[in-house]
Amino acid sequence: MNPASCHTAVLPAEVMSFLAVRKAARIVDGTLGGGGHTRLLAEAVGPEGLVIAIDRDPAAIERGSREFVGLPVRFAQANYCDLPEVLDALSIDSVDGVLLDVGLSSDQLADHSRGFSFESDGPLDLRFDPTEGEPAWRLLSRMKAEHIADIIHEYGEERFSRRIARRIVSAREKEPIRSSREFARIVTSAVPRQTPPSRIHPATRTFQALRIAVNQELKSLRIALERIPTRLSPGGRLVVISFHSLEDRLAKQAFCNTQVWERLTRSPIGASDDELARNPRSRSAKLRAAQLASHPVN
Ligand SMILES: C[S@@+](CC[C@H](N)C(=O)[O-])C[C@H]1O[C@@H](n2cnc3c(N)ncnc32)[C@H](O)[C@@H]1O
Repeated sequence: MNPASCHTAVLPAEVMSFLAVRKAARIVDGTLGGGGHTRLLAEAVGPEGLVIAIDRDPAAIERGSREFVGLPVRFAQANYCDLPEVLDALSIDSVDGVLLDVGLSSDQLADHSRGFSFESDGPLDLRFDPTEGEPAWRLLSRMKAEHIADIIHEYGEERFSRRIARRIVSAREKEPIRSSREFARIVTSAVPRQTPPSRIHPATRTFQALRIAVNQELKSLRIALERIPTRLSPGGRLVVISFHSLEDRLAKQAFCNTQVWERLTRSPIGASDDELARNPRSRSAKLRAAQLASHPVN
């Protein structure tokens, strides 16, 4: 059984305010994670309303189903880009709001069997849904050096991407790279020492890049941003919280389409000093929100 969640929901007050949740509303939380936002939403919609909580990760769904007994929440283990299919299965035409708080949860990071942590001796897996797709170690064992470098450069915005890719390829020629700790060691050995030392671990950007590639995270977000408006009620709202500049750019570009959206945020909202002090993970969170335009073109 999963332990209780250790994830702290980011920008909770801002999420509730931009979604303008009222009693009896139907809201989709596309990224259940530790359930912090789901709980707030479920309490706000009340017993007449409904929160549909989606996550790719079966462990998040299992924990949520156990913890939210008695609250108006239905769960779906799915990719949020399949939101229309999830609603079809529940015979729901449209919803009043959708939240996407994309990326990785602290619960996934803390579970050493999933490979998200540098300290993990378990397999370098990095899949949100461990039953689908290819684990990171397998991807790394078959990709060409140039492709590995491109991923690290693009998704990790890592300036030493080519050196790291070359080091990965020479290491895997000796023996397959299986564990996260081993991978972190190889990456660290390829990154020149920084003076003054960087605040983040030298393998942070490379892990992030590999995770984004393994889960095709940008593709999911791009598809979701196209499909969500087709299932929002008139005046329905979408809130996107991202932790990566490429994700934020996707939300920004989507919300610029005035045929579909009326923007509620001109520039992204970040965490207050108060929240930063309480939850350091909120440091890179960026929230954008929009409302369905009066006459959307589907
Ligand atoms: C930042 S956490 C969400 C935290 C949550 N809002 C809370 O308050 O605890 C992101 C979650 O989204 C899930 N996720 C990421 N991409 C997804 C996708 N394309 N479809 C569904 N879930 C996804 C991850 O498995 C993870 O559990």
